[in-house]
Amino acid sequence: MDILVIGSGGREHAIVRKLKESPRTGKLYCAPGNGGIAKDAECVPIGAMDIPAVVAFAKEKNIDLVFVAPDDPLAAGMVDALEKEGIPAFGPCANAAVIEASKVFSKDLMKRYHIPTAQYEVFSEPAEAIAWIENNNRFPIVVKADGLALGKGVLICPDFEAAKAAVKEIMEDKVFGASGSRVVVEEFLTGPEVSVLAFTDGHCVKPMVSSKDHKRALDNDEGLNTGGMGTISPNPYYTDAIAKECMETIFLPTIEAMNKEGRPFKGCLYFGLMITPDGPKVIEYNARFGDPETQVVLPRLKTDFVDIVMAVVEERLSDLTIEWSDEACACVVMASGGYPGHYEKGIAIEGLDENGQVDGAVVYHAGTALRDGKFVTNGGRVLGVTALGGTLPQALEKAYAAVGKIHWDGVHYRHDIGVIK
Ligand code: AMP
Ligand code: GLY
Repeated sequence: MDILVIGSGGREHAIVRKLKESPRTGKLYCAPGNGGIAKDAECVPIGAMDIPAVVAFAKEKNIDLVFVAPDDPLAAGMVDALEKEGIPAFGPCANAAVIEASKVFSKDLMKRYHIPTAQYEVFSEPAEAIAWIENNNRFPIVVKADGLALGKGVLICPDFEAAKAAVKEIMEDKVFGASGSRVVVEEFLTGPEVSVLAFTDGHCVKPMVSSKDHKRALDNDEGLNTGGMGTISPNPYYTDAIAKECMETIFLPTIEAMNKEGRPFKGCLYFGLMITPDGPKVIEYNARFGDPETQVVLPRLKTDFVDIVMAVVEERLSDLTIEWSDEACACVVMASGGYPGHYEKGIAIEGLDENGQVDGAVVYHAGTALRDGKFVTNGGRVLGVTALGGTLPQALEKAYAAVGKIHWDGVHYRHDIGVIK
């Protein structure tokens, strides 16, 4: 099968690598890809949002499967456009991708179908939001932009002044663009967070092994929120008992709810969970694989990835048994100086071999480019240095040993990935 992967980050590199392991995979393309992905797939210069160009390329090359990894093209209907042309595609249609693209939609869905989540109110007028927050008078409170905001549209507000500023930033200054025309004001929950990615064909749901993201930029969970600075799998908080509860109260009810709404979800559904004192609750849904969760989940997959992906696309997932390795996996993200704020690009990376790898680990490229055959930085998150190990400490030791071999000017990474407090 000739396969085209859409996207350009570390998640896409991990997907490309896993697809490449399958004996069923023929030619592998990635649009647009990056410097490291170019060592594993043929990168084609088509932007991830260029739906007509993706469809045209897939037709021209007789592509057997398009794997749409990022949220934006899913929300914009790339899968719909491909299916219309008879091209098999992995990922939800736009009417189901809305579960991530609109927080108002996902919160209302959970309320209608009694899926546990934080209590909330929706506002389209800033003055009404502010009046409600003042009257409610409970802090911290969480203010969220309705739409996609690169994972940054969530503001946790310790007091009224901060909440008022958050509403103004989102709704009046529009710092997250059009995604801020409505806000969700939400109860602040506490407890450890768990990411669970799940395969679903709209009929059955098969959760993957759990993982934990480290979202803050600096050690000790200090600094700004980022796209994710590192991950581990499994997540030690995700016990068998909690997994069972999640299946009954969250995973199955969500799949059923989407069917009842006439929005069957096919692809990878990401459950961002918080294990609160009142049990697991949904913090957010994503309509896709997580980044950098994918980098620690897929290395543990033992079943042929193409078999699973095709079972999802062809809606026969229940026939398939999916097997996982008992090993632990750890991914340490190496980022550009300044990230998640302003950073420079084009800085030479030292320590990688000609394939962009180092001994003892797998390096997933997130933001690199090739310049005269050498790898240079080309994004905020640059590399995801990943290792499997018999135990989590062993996986972490291998990942950090590999991190120690790589360097560039300004590089920063967290030293406490996998530290559970
Ligand atoms: P999200 O983009 O919705 O995943 O939110 C980003 C992060 O904000 C989450 O990973 C949580 O750490 C935090 N967060 C979001 N909603 C809540 C909430 N209701 N209570 C506490 N923390 C939250
Ligand atoms: N790591 C969080 C996300 O992919 O949204």
